[in-house]
Amino acid sequence: MRTVDIIQKKRDGKPLTTQEIEALIQGYVSGEIPDYQMSAWAMAVYFNGMTAAETADLTLAMARSGDQADLSSIPGVKVDKHSTGGVGDTTTLILAPLAAAAGVPVAKMSGRGLGHTGGTIDKLEAIEGYKVELTKEQFLQQVKSIGVSVISQSGNITPADKKLYGLRDVTATVDSIPLIASSIMSKKIASGADAIVLDVKTGSGAFMKSLDDSIKLAQAMVEIGDQVGRETVAVITNMDEPLGLAIGNALEVREAIDTLRGEGPADLTELCLVLGSHMLQLGGKAASYDEARRLAEELLHSGAALGKLRELIAAQGGNPEVADRPELLPSAAYQVPVPALQAGTVSHIDAEALGVTAMMLGAGRATKEDHIDLAVGIVLHKKVGDYVSAGETIAELYMNRNEPMFTEEMTQRTRDVFTVSSGEVVKSPLIYAVVT
Ligand code: URA
Ligand code: CA
Repeated sequence: MRTVDIIQKKRDGKPLTTQEIEALIQGYVSGEIPDYQMSAWAMAVYFNGMTAAETADLTLAMARSGDQADLSSIPGVKVDKHSTGGVGDTTTLILAPLAAAAGVPVAKMSGRGLGHTGGTIDKLEAIEGYKVELTKEQFLQQVKSIGVSVISQSGNITPADKKLYGLRDVTATVDSIPLIASSIMSKKIASGADAIVLDVKTGSGAFMKSLDDSIKLAQAMVEIGDQVGRETVAVITNMDEPLGLAIGNALEVREAIDTLRGEGPADLTELCLVLGSHMLQLGGKAASYDEARRLAEELLHSGAALGKLRELIAAQGGNPEVADRPELLPSAAYQVPVPALQAGTVSHIDAEALGVTAMMLGAGRATKEDHIDLAVGIVLHKKVGDYVSAGETIAELYMNRNEPMFTEEMTQRTRDVFTVSSGEVVKSPLIYAVVT
């Protein structure tokens, strides 16, 4: 089988066989197939797409290209969740303990962040003593004993995806739904979950800007799940403004704790209840969505989910008192209010620009080597649909640098992410659709 023939077949719009896709991925990972052939193939996929069967084959070939977590020794349906990325997304810190409190085992490997704010692992490091690295045995043992562990992804998971993603990034082939869907699902499958809940973000602050494309991506991922025997549900959610109010690592941990106490922002709480309900349903803890929803609400309101967070923190060496006293988290030296210049109703918050501003404050990394300041970030006081009067605080900066010019620039940038209108503002829904 010559690589050039595989490329030609895809160029001519014909579907590839399982063997052809396997050969392509194996050859690429081993270095036998050069980047120029792989990029020609990726461009052919960009224009001609892939069938559902091809997409599933590609996903499995990439999932098998490196280490695969074996969670089979943990009893029960292991449910994972994944978000396609947004700004201020703190859901894992809430959903992992929530699902575990219902008896759904959560064996989660998370990443660090690049850009915007940190990833889940960076946020967990804001908790004093929390160890993000466990051995495979410790990880499995902890899930068996307390039902949950969240660790830093280690080892060599989906090297094919890593290499291909790097290539797509520089060959204008990222924006292909089958390539995105297989990339995301290959990592979830290699991480060993039996069932997967996907939060597909849509809107100006999301990877997928249009609702149409977001639904197509969701359908492609659910279809992969069906084809490979991992039940998958995708929820399409709004990213026209950041989720919740906090952007920044310790600030987001605090917000997660508030939410687990039943005192979190409405949108974050609702999203966690929706995603959590799907996790409980997939995990076999409820016969219907409505029943799962009642259970999820009860776990939140009874404090059971917060109790599970305490257990999780303690099991991984952190100080569980943080769950009751969030003031123990790292805190910034300066709190700077950002006043609105004019009165009106907030009609849009540019989540991406806000993420960049949080990064400039030190909450995220511009390059992999950058050091993160866990304490800094931004807390919104107003969201889309809220009325603001002139001079009223619309956001607050949490800073560790006190240099007038820098503070002025950050204040200006934060103010600029808000669009304030004089007319009526129609708020877009938080949840657009559920694809099963
Ligand atoms: N996120 C991924 O993990 N893969 C893609 O291809 C795009 C976004
Ligand atoms: Ca299905």
